[in-house]
Amino acid sequence: MIDIATLNHRYPDGKLALDSIDLSIKKGEFVVIAGRNGSGKSTLVRHMNALLLPTSGFVKVNGLCTTKKANLLNIRKTVGMVFQNPDSQFVGMTIEEDVAFGLENTQVAHEKIKPLVDNVLKLMELHEYRKCSPRSLSGGQRQKVAISGVLVMEPEYIVFDEVTSMLDPISRLEVLATIKQINEKGITIIHVTHRLEEAVNADRLIVMNSGKIALDGAPHEIFLHPDLLSKYGLELPPLMELSRKLFNAGIIKDGIVLSKEELVEELCQSI
Ligand SMILES: Nc1ncnc2c1ncn2[C@@H]1O[C@H](COP(=O)(O)OP(=O)(O)O)[C@@H](O)[C@H]1O
Ligand SMILES: [Mg+2]
Repeated sequence: MIDIATLNHRYPDGKLALDSIDLSIKKGEFVVIAGRNGSGKSTLVRHMNALLLPTSGFVKVNGLCTTKKANLLNIRKTVGMVFQNPDSQFVGMTIEEDVAFGLENTQVAHEKIKPLVDNVLKLMELHEYRKCSPRSLSGGQRQKVAISGVLVMEPEYIVFDEVTSMLDPISRLEVLATIKQINEKGITIIHVTHRLEEAVNADRLIVMNSGKIALDGAPHEIFLHPDLLSKYGLELPPLMELSRKLFNAGIIKDGIVLSKEELVEELCQSI
């Protein structure tokens, strides 16, 4: 469990970026954190693997407090992080070197590294490219290389901070499917995004606003919240927004629909 209590974070310039956050994330959950730019999402998730430390309050990862120096290595191993720009995370000349890099800095015996890397590359459908440079791949595949480098360390939690925001729509779907697949393997996911539709497959959607948790609940319930755009700067994609209006007007019965086909079916049923 990641356990956060009355967490405040004040940057050196005086900005209060997190304002009394209470949050528990259970093992196995798929949590999406959404919110407009500057709402505090990155600041919050950086506390989850001790990249930032509390100004006050506490963050505990599996019971280990992030402020204790002795816990740092353990916490960093338990919670992996993937960021927006995969290119800034590459360190190896080839994909397999890149993915092996983190392991080479641990106690894992040298002969065990290659099979671990091979396994992850197969799972991520990157094995055939293992001798290529990460830079020769598409944006989505590059992001999957960065994800592989974290996955190979066998973390229990992975934080994805806006990993889809620089990707084209096809690559975005590919990376989202990968994240879902990783969650199905039992790894806890904390996925930060400003696109609400990326919470469709999540167990839980948290909306942040001005350094606070504004909403926390099941995605299909939060999608129906009337003030998402006006208060929290979050827009549903057109199809979901249309179905929300139709649902609120009592024209369709099942809440937000996710595809044109589903909407047509719902409308036909309502006639
Ligand atoms: N290193 C920093 N120094 C000072 N202020 C910062 C720093 N990083 C972020 N902030 C401020 O903290 C607030 C939250 O930022 P951030 O956590 O990056 O939000 P988000 O990820 O939701 O866009 C913003 O007002 C931002 O300008
Ligand atoms: Mg951010």
